[in-house]
Amino acid sequence: MHRTRKLLSAVALLGLAAAGCLKPEGAKKTLPGHELYAACASCHGQDAAGNAKLEAPPIAGLPAWYVEVQLVKFRSGHRAYHPEDVAGLRMRPMSRQMMDEGEIKSVSAHVASLPVTKAATTLEGGKASDGAGSYATCLACHGAKGEGNQALGAPPIAHQADWYLLSQLKKFKGGLRGTHPEDKSGASMRPMSMTLADEQAMKNVIAHIGTLSN
Ligand code: HEC
Ligand code: HEC
Repeated sequence: MHRTRKLLSAVALLGLAAAGCLKPEGAKKTLPGHELYAACASCHGQDAAGNAKLEAPPIAGLPAWYVEVQLVKFRSGHRAYHPEDVAGLRMRPMSRQMMDEGEIKSVSAHVASLPVTKAATTLEGGKASDGAGSYATCLACHGAKGEGNQALGAPPIAHQADWYLLSQLKKFKGGLRGTHPEDKSGASMRPMSMTLADEQAMKNVIAHIGTLSN
């Protein structure tokens, strides 16, 4: 009896979940991106310039395709799946709460429309001249000016905050990002992080990336 009841409520829950997923397109009106962005501002800042204390990167002016892809990855758990990925896990509930496809598109377009600001240098000890050689490996995907390449899924990195670039290189190398079996674009980045021997090599290439923006 008990078991049947448990089973029934499990089935009911599953039904509810399925109903949520199968909600017909357009059944709900999608809010404009700037309104949806209110939910992001507490971490990424009103102008999306980021908040280093919360480890939330600047996202203003990132291309809409990349913001979309990342929100979908956070939502599906293809990014921020590792228990040690504390910053990633901060982002995850956000993407889950919101967001159907229309909302993801809408908020991504808003983020992309915000003016990029070049983040201040925070890291010390990186030598741009030593990093230039390592960047030859990165160039094929992220571009000569760090402008990114949509066809390869590679984001622009030239204007990105140095502390965030370092945290992500460490995550790729440590297997906290880019190791989910369904994360194809993450998997293309991961071996590249392996070409950087240690933190010093990472700081050097990041110092070089900092010289790329025009
Ligand atoms: C609770 C704080 C918090 C909120 C709210 C939040 N984020 Fe984030 N977000 C983060 C953190 C922390 C990271 C960095 C994750 C990492 O280190 O992998 C991040 C990463 C991202 C990235 C990846 C950037 C990149 O270069 O790969 C995007 C895109 C993003 N957030 C968009 C959003 C949007 C859009 C919203 C609102 C719908 C939002 N975030 C709300 C904390 C937050
Ligand atoms: C084979 C193509 C390729 C090469 C070469 C490559 N990357 Fe990437 N990189 C990517 C892709 C694709 C992503 C996005 C992964 C994702 O969707 O999560 C990425 C993401 C990143 C990120 C995270 C940016 C963010 O906003 O979260 C950093 C930092 C990065 N790459 C740095 C480098 C550096 C430094 C090198 C050279 C040592 C390099 N990449 C070489 C394809 C590449």
